[in-house]
Amino acid sequence: MTDPFAQAALHHVAVTPKRGDAAMRVLTPDDFARAWDEITAWDGYAPTPLVSLPGLAGQIGVGHIAYKHEGPRFGLGSFKALGGAYAALRVLQRELGTRLGHPVTLADIRGGAYAEACAGITLSSATDGNHGRSLAWGCQRVGAPCRIYIHAEVSETRAQAMRDLGADVVRIDGDYDASVDLARTEADENGWFVVSDTSWDGYADPPRDVMAGYGVMTREACEAMEDAPSHVILQGGVGGLAASVAAYLRQHWGDDAPRVIITEPDRAACLYESAQKGVPTTVPIHEETIMAGLSCGEPSEMAWAILREEAQDFVTMPDSIVAPTMRLLANGDSGDAQIEAGESAVAGLATLIAVMRQPDMAAALGLDAQSRVLLIGSEGVTDPAIFAAIMAGADHV
Ligand SMILES: Cc1ncc(COP(=O)(O)O)c(C=O)c1O
Repeated sequence: MTDPFAQAALHHVAVTPKRGDAAMRVLTPDDFARAWDEITAWDGYAPTPLVSLPGLAGQIGVGHIAYKHEGPRFGLGSFKALGGAYAALRVLQRELGTRLGHPVTLADIRGGAYAEACAGITLSSATDGNHGRSLAWGCQRVGAPCRIYIHAEVSETRAQAMRDLGADVVRIDGDYDASVDLARTEADENGWFVVSDTSWDGYADPPRDVMAGYGVMTREACEAMEDAPSHVILQGGVGGLAASVAAYLRQHWGDDAPRVIITEPDRAACLYESAQKGVPTTVPIHEETIMAGLSCGEPSEMAWAILREEAQDFVTMPDSIVAPTMRLLANGDSGDAQIEAGESAVAGLATLIAVMRQPDMAAALGLDAQSRVLLIGSEGVTDPAIFAAIMAGADHV
């Protein structure tokens, strides 16, 4: 039988990071602390598990694998629950403060003290599913109207999950980047507030808050680890997750922070392309990747500002290794705990397995039997129909 991991076409570009202060300045310790204080006070907050995969680690030849499993996060199925919902509260905080002429607290907004005013503030965003779900949830909890833009390939199950949380969902014909453009235009025309997980020139506060919210996940992981990992493999969409994790790891571990490897689907490798060119670079998406959450052609500027200083390696991976990784994780094939993970969640693990099957690639990334690797399992089963098809043996959906 052919081994999809040994056969996988991986591409790698190594950069010498220009270490600067972006990991402290673009996202400050205060940004992370504010988000932590707020999010850990929400009903239903519980840290997600950091799962060791010793069987698989031994099988592929690394020392240790720690997999942060975000499936249980607030019942929403992904780490994104931490970002959009928190950034929504912060947008409302700023807008209510301006309208009322006095500062308002997040706790008061959350507690319903401004419910009437919130009902008059519409928040909107483009999404490939998980960010929109988080935003819709955040809006529903405080009674703010929510409008979500999705592209042609977002699954109907994911769209319905957002409608169920009260969002008005608009589907467009184009791709993710076209949905971002439409969200911006319609918000400008109607006085709505875009709560995006990606930043662009002149638009920084919500994506900073989104990334600060993700820091809850990284802090939990750091608190659960005794020693710093040697490597972290982070999957990239617009780069917000990767930049947030890299920044927090630097703040937490200092010079002992792990080597940061970014992995992306080869169909949407905007960070890889940016690393090659040395400037944020947009790539066209000709075909959608199975990893819906990573299907982004345009990097977040703010994320790039951190990654250009913190990431040492950028890798692209093919779709072919996603479904096999989901199956081996769900079946606990190596005698490890069984984990139900979504397509975007397993990108780092799929990359790690493929790299370890290809000795030149493992050497280039400094991965060997001593390596202690941290992975972010960014989603659980966010689309049950796709998950069931993959578990039944499908490699494409
Ligand atoms: C499950 C999942 N993982 C990873 C990502 C990538 O995050 P980012 O776009 O911030 O790079 C996303 C983005 O939607 C996602 O939904």
